[in-house]
Amino acid sequence: MRAIPVSDGIWWVGGIDWNLRDFHGYETPRGTTYNAYLVRGEDTWALVDTVKTPFVYELLSRVSHVVDPAQVGLIVVNHVEPDHNSGLQDVMAAMPHARVVASGSGVKGVAEYHDGLVVDAVGSDDVIDLGGRTLRFMPAPMVHWPDSMFTYCPEVETLMPNDAFGQHLASSARFADEVGRDLAFTELGTYYANILLPISAQVSKMVDKIAEAGWEPEVIAPSHGVVWRGSDVGAAIAAYRQWTSGAKRDKAVIAYSTMWGSTNLLAHAIADGVAAGGVEVRLYDLAVTPGSLITYELLESKALLLGSPTLHHGMLYRLAGYLQYLEGLKPAGRLAAFFGSYGWGGGAVKQMRERVSQIGLETPFEDFTVKFKPTAEDLAAAEAWGGTIAEAIKAFGQDDAAR
Ligand code: FEO
Repeated sequence: MRAIPVSDGIWWVGGIDWNLRDFHGYETPRGTTYNAYLVRGEDTWALVDTVKTPFVYELLSRVSHVVDPAQVGLIVVNHVEPDHNSGLQDVMAAMPHARVVASGSGVKGVAEYHDGLVVDAVGSDDVIDLGGRTLRFMPAPMVHWPDSMFTYCPEVETLMPNDAFGQHLASSARFADEVGRDLAFTELGTYYANILLPISAQVSKMVDKIAEAGWEPEVIAPSHGVVWRGSDVGAAIAAYRQWTSGAKRDKAVIAYSTMWGSTNLLAHAIADGVAAGGVEVRLYDLAVTPGSLITYELLESKALLLGSPTLHHGMLYRLAGYLQYLEGLKPAGRLAAFFGSYGWGGGAVKQMRERVSQIGLETPFEDFTVKFKPTAEDLAAAEAWGGTIAEAIKAFGQDDAAR
């Protein structure tokens, strides 16, 4: 298997997981990659990150395309989550002379995951010289786990920030400009919304720290998906700055489940009302749409409209599952509204409202409910309700949205 150059003397040597469809609840219809990078020095070689265990053969095969793995003198563990770290011991077996380094928290994580394995700690004051080429380190706590770390090679201005700037995107292309920028940036946003949203403050701090350290990357080589180079580097950083700022636009997402179609009818009428009010709208039935896509659409939206009929006095389980997922991501600073049909007792909208109160969304609207099957009058009222929400969205300013 081939190694692909990403900058002068640095090769991508990762694994492509074409068939991954679920990443701890984040649905990944386009698969992912586990990226690792081989760095050549005059004195020795370094491997930045490893891969998930089933992809170790692929990594070693790609390394062997450039150099005998036994010549690698350094392994950098940027992150101990198993998608990057579970294959570490197998990789070490093929690189018996390699010193292994991680952040301070990473040292503990490696020991806990690998039965007491001892590795060395590095921090922001450390420089490892490979011979004419150096590696520098920046702890990045909580981007994505406490141990996370960025590694930078200043001689070729290449940043290897692990999960940051990643995307769950399997492809035969290695660069964003090869795979298509629209796709790359959509997947960058999807990854941000589904992984990094609850830690936006830490991500913002790290983007600032990259600049404060004087690191001016020409290449950003993340641990998932494609590599950013040329003008895409600045564009990816600008996208992160926008998302960390909490900036949103006049857009609403409708996510719902339906039993016999009544809530589906309401959802469509409400969407018409929102759109007629001059607000962009996206409508998704949770039975057929991955929650990760809905969450991406929510990233720059000001409002989330949730619909469910009542079953056994509560909401349908797909709604409950999605709200459990959202509770972890905490997309606060947005409006929420609730609608649905019921046969006799009702209860779904009340339950949705209670669950959403734990997410930090603002819920100023009356619920919209209809008994049994909506009439033409009901649907006109649903459309009008959507129009009311559109007006509120337009009045919901950036200052409010960024709270
Ligand atoms: Fe790709 Fe947080 O691991």
